[in-house]
Amino acid sequence: MFKIGDIELKNPVVLAPMAGVCNAAFRLIVKEFGAALVCAEMVSDKGILYKNEKTLDMLYIDEREKPLSLQIFGGEIETLVEAAKFVEKNTTADIIDINMGCPVPKIIKSDAGAKWLLDPDKIYEVVAAVVDAVDKPVTVKMRMGWDDDHIYAVENAQAVERAGGKAVALHGRTRVQMYEGTANWDIIKQVKEAVNIPVIGNGDVKTPEDAKRMLEMTGCDGVMIGRAALGDPWMIYRTVHYLETGELMDPPTPKEKIEVCLLHADRLIQLKGEKLAIMEMRKHAAWYLKGLRGNAKVRNALNECETREELESLLREYIATLEAKSEQDIAVV
Ligand SMILES: Cc1cc2nc3c(=O)[nH]c(=O)nc-3n(C[C@H](O)[C@H](O)[C@H](O)COP(=O)(O)O)c2cc1C
Repeated sequence: MFKIGDIELKNPVVLAPMAGVCNAAFRLIVKEFGAALVCAEMVSDKGILYKNEKTLDMLYIDEREKPLSLQIFGGEIETLVEAAKFVEKNTTADIIDINMGCPVPKIIKSDAGAKWLLDPDKIYEVVAAVVDAVDKPVTVKMRMGWDDDHIYAVENAQAVERAGGKAVALHGRTRVQMYEGTANWDIIKQVKEAVNIPVIGNGDVKTPEDAKRMLEMTGCDGVMIGRAALGDPWMIYRTVHYLETGELMDPPTPKEKIEVCLLHADRLIQLKGEKLAIMEMRKHAAWYLKGLRGNAKVRNALNECETREELESLLREYIATLEAKSEQDIAVV
């Protein structure tokens, strides 16, 4: 258990913020699978200030997901501060997180995301201004540096701490790396040793055993899981259980996967309406089916799927053929 400001987290497992993925529908599922903290997808400060309808919809929080961290990004101190104040006043988010890791060119061009990482003084200034403006705990999620020649993770995390930030989440890759190579966990250890606020390690935690190794190797307080949870909220549940008991639970059956995929779809439909939700579910459904036998055909069909009914029948037909195949296999044995 650890604390971010006065927010108590019941275990070390944190869902990473993921744009286009971490809305209330997915977050609630991950929460129900045991994550101590769920992070919302990044929200543009300007989108908030201009009251862009889509952006404001992204601020929706279901009380059952809490505690929740809401991430904002932007390129100027003034707009970030105003957006943080808006989030403080108009949402029940428990934590306000500032994105300093996004490597996407569109975000970098506006001076936001990973660009802050080149200048610890600037980070201090930004975080201090946001901390000053709100009562909720402020945290920062960052990459370890810009490129191999500009790795200021320790200085940057210290700047966050000095400015009153209440935790740092560190992805052990540089901006230039995007998602290439492997995440550097050693830098997570160095940052943990250099600050007194909680450090959440992130990058390449793909199995429950990876989570344990990261905690042990780096001494970090929490592990943040991103891609491994896509279509696999069981990863969260199995990790929490493994960390608590040392016991590795079986992965879900194909049928369980499909039931949760449909629950995810239903929650997304409530949130966004059927048309948008089903479009968005195409990628999720493919993730839920990842690793299952002979799924190429159904994955193609899912790409064209337009209604809840179609989604369900494609998934159920696939499962039926999968079960028939297993029975044949058993008969052959
Ligand atoms: C689809 C996707 C969207 C992401 N969106 C965000 C985001 O909105 N904010 C952020 O700080 N990081 C974002 N990230 C980065 C993740 O939070 C995380 O740092 C990264 O995926 C490494 O962790 P992993 O190896 O567990 O996936 C995103 C990653 C993915 C794959």
